[in-house]
Amino acid sequence: MEYVTFNDGNKMPILGYGTFQTPPLETEENVLKAIDIGYRSIDTAQVYGTESGVGSAITKSGIDRSDFFVTSKTQTQGYEDTKKGIDDSLKRFGQDYFDLMIIHWPTSESLETYRALEEAVKAGKIKSIGLSNFNSKQVDEVIRNSSIKPVIDQIETHLYWQQQKMSAYLKANNIVHESWAPLGENYGGEMMKQPDIQNLAKKYNVSPAQILLRFLTQQGIVTIPKSLNIDHIKSNFDIFGFKMTDEEIKSLQKFDTHKSIKDWPVSMRENAY
Ligand SMILES: NC(=O)c1ccc[n+]([C@@H]2O[C@H](COP(=O)([O-])OP(=O)(O)OC[C@H]3O[C@@H](n4cnc5c(N)ncnc54)[C@H](OP(=O)(O)O)[C@@H]3O)[C@@H](O)[C@H]2O)c1
Repeated sequence: MEYVTFNDGNKMPILGYGTFQTPPLETEENVLKAIDIGYRSIDTAQVYGTESGVGSAITKSGIDRSDFFVTSKTQTQGYEDTKKGIDDSLKRFGQDYFDLMIIHWPTSESLETYRALEEAVKAGKIKSIGLSNFNSKQVDEVIRNSSIKPVIDQIETHLYWQQQKMSAYLKANNIVHESWAPLGENYGGEMMKQPDIQNLAKKYNVSPAQILLRFLTQQGIVTIPKSLNIDHIKSNFDIFGFKMTDEEIKSLQKFDTHKSIKDWPVSMRENAY
């Protein structure tokens, strides 16, 4: 495993396991499969309904809580709701703390929501805090009005939308860039069929999905592919045995057509910041 180091000194595995659209009742079983394969970073969210399945999988694994890195995301707006939401999340998760909690999407009350996250850090309920789906203007506003700098911004990032503008901004501000939908969700099949991706897969004797994930991690971008297929869960984790050349990484930048899988939220469009 490779790790990134946050601006608060904490570390996060560069590759984890996503749980968006995992049926809540199937979460424990699938997360246990992922843990068995070696994943230690798990991405959940209040809105996914998977916090409790992630927590029970960790307990059932018998592996020390401190060996895991678990991210959750707020679904709440404002200080009071978020404060309560964090406690409710911890109850569902059944553990004492989250390694990372991020604001899932910006709202008119993001600053107050963030203040509740800061307080939870001071209370030992969360180790690190950050943002998701925030453009650079919105991240700047949080930085200007807070005492704990966000450590990460989790944004849609894949072959077809590489987020070069946001990535440069985040790098300059020492904030980690994390990708959601690294395999392009519904566009995944189309990306994996691209002849350039197929040729690289052949050259390195790996799958097209492994090329798409390595393309991100080789650029220092954290990612959390989701799968309910055991062969995919396994191969998505096995991406550190090869390294593409700088020229190959550069050659894949031509696929960046800024194509979003769902155009949500529209504030992430480059002309909005
Ligand atoms: N912050 C946010 O707003 C936000 C938004 C979306 C997602 N996320 C997070 O990011 C995680 C990843 O994004 P995502 O789940 O939307 O999309 P994704 O990981 O890009 O794609 C998931 C899809 O790819 C397929 N797949 C996975 N591995 C594959 C492989 N090796 N070969 C072929 N197909 C493969 C899966 O099907 P199989 O089950 O058949 O493998 C599934 O249909 C989420 O689970 C969630 O934790 C965050």
